[in-house]
Amino acid sequence: MKKENFNKNLEIYAEGSKYLMPTYNRLPVVFTRAKMQYLWDADGKKYLDFIAGYGCLNVGHSNSFVVKKVKQQIGKIMQSSNIYYNEPQVELAKKLCEITGFGQKVFFANSGTESVEGAIKLARKYSMEKFHSEKRFEIISFHKSFHGRTLGALAATAQPEKQNEFKPILEGFKYAELNDIDSVKEKINANTCAIIIEPVQGEGGVNVADKKFMVQIREACDKNGILLILDEIQTGFGRTGSMFAYQNFGVTPDIMVVAKSLGGGMPIGAIISTSEVASVFKPGSHGSTFGGNAASCSAGCAVIEYMVKNNLPERAKVLGNYFMNKLKQLADKYSIIKEVRGMGLMIGMEFSQPVADDLVKKALSDGIVINKISAETLRFLPTLIVTKKNINTLINWLNKNIKDL
Ligand SMILES: Cc1ncc(COP(=O)(O)O)c(C=O)c1O
Repeated sequence: MKKENFNKNLEIYAEGSKYLMPTYNRLPVVFTRAKMQYLWDADGKKYLDFIAGYGCLNVGHSNSFVVKKVKQQIGKIMQSSNIYYNEPQVELAKKLCEITGFGQKVFFANSGTESVEGAIKLARKYSMEKFHSEKRFEIISFHKSFHGRTLGALAATAQPEKQNEFKPILEGFKYAELNDIDSVKEKINANTCAIIIEPVQGEGGVNVADKKFMVQIREACDKNGILLILDEIQTGFGRTGSMFAYQNFGVTPDIMVVAKSLGGGMPIGAIISTSEVASVFKPGSHGSTFGGNAASCSAGCAVIEYMVKNNLPERAKVLGNYFMNKLKQLADKYSIIKEVRGMGLMIGMEFSQPVADDLVKKALSDGIVINKISAETLRFLPTLIVTKKNINTLINWLNKNIKDL
């Protein structure tokens, strides 16, 4: 049988298009193998990864240390009901409290959006009980924010194009402007229970909160008895150059949600809070069948251990500065680049024209995986084990392809 034109990528792509719901604009490449910062497709082509599973592989793809620990765990026990503790769950909760400093209690979920849902319930319950008011359920979030796709998290996601087709949206959410404290203060009233914010907005454009703004938000929360919820689902676990982005801002949350890179590729999310806030959650207040399963939690423990041992947050800081400088040099050279912004290894590059889609596709055909968050903006979220050489490869590619635009 003749095999020259055989293309496994396209074969799987065609089957996928037939059987999977079309919720993504998928590209016709299927990755079947990955190791650290590299991927291989079904036809054996190698790629350099600058999106890391939308930021969930800070420790790299199939990191050997994580794989070993998970394999050991799944050979023993993967899952038990949540009316029992399991060892990795307890160990991971302890680790999360230790590395956050403010954290005293943890609830495990399976994803980012689920963690946000739980945080909304926790904040509402805490505030309504503490202030003896059934009306104290309002939450302030920010335009261009992204907190997830389930209905509570979607209500916090202040992007009309994501909400409009799913109305009615859960009530009680107000939207302020990032880096504009007056717009926040205008929305605060006696019914405000929490403010939820990404320290660096990811999906909304890699928009970095000002340090002063974060401090002002914390002050406004303290003054009004409002809880500060930080969504560190994308910024957490070293991404911005410290273990959590809030450590760059000197501002501590009351509740923090994490997911993505905590699992090193395994599905997991967590709500971390002070004991006082967590005390309102009683048996029956919230739950999850798979939340805190031993397999995902063993991955989480291994991720934190690996990250601390290899000082990945510092690596993200140093390489992030290097990467950012190189991108800014390109921006000085090409007027089509409007802005380069970000923190650590979370970087956005905005163009004055809608060229992002073409660049993503061209990069893929040249063996580099990058991502666009709008028609004009590229986002780079490499693994934190990316090297200077890898960064130079991307910079050289950008230099050539932006010149050719
Ligand atoms: C800041 C932020 N919050 C929440 C979410 C939702 O997480 P998940 O896709 O795991 O539900 C995301 C996902 O991109 C995110 O970046």
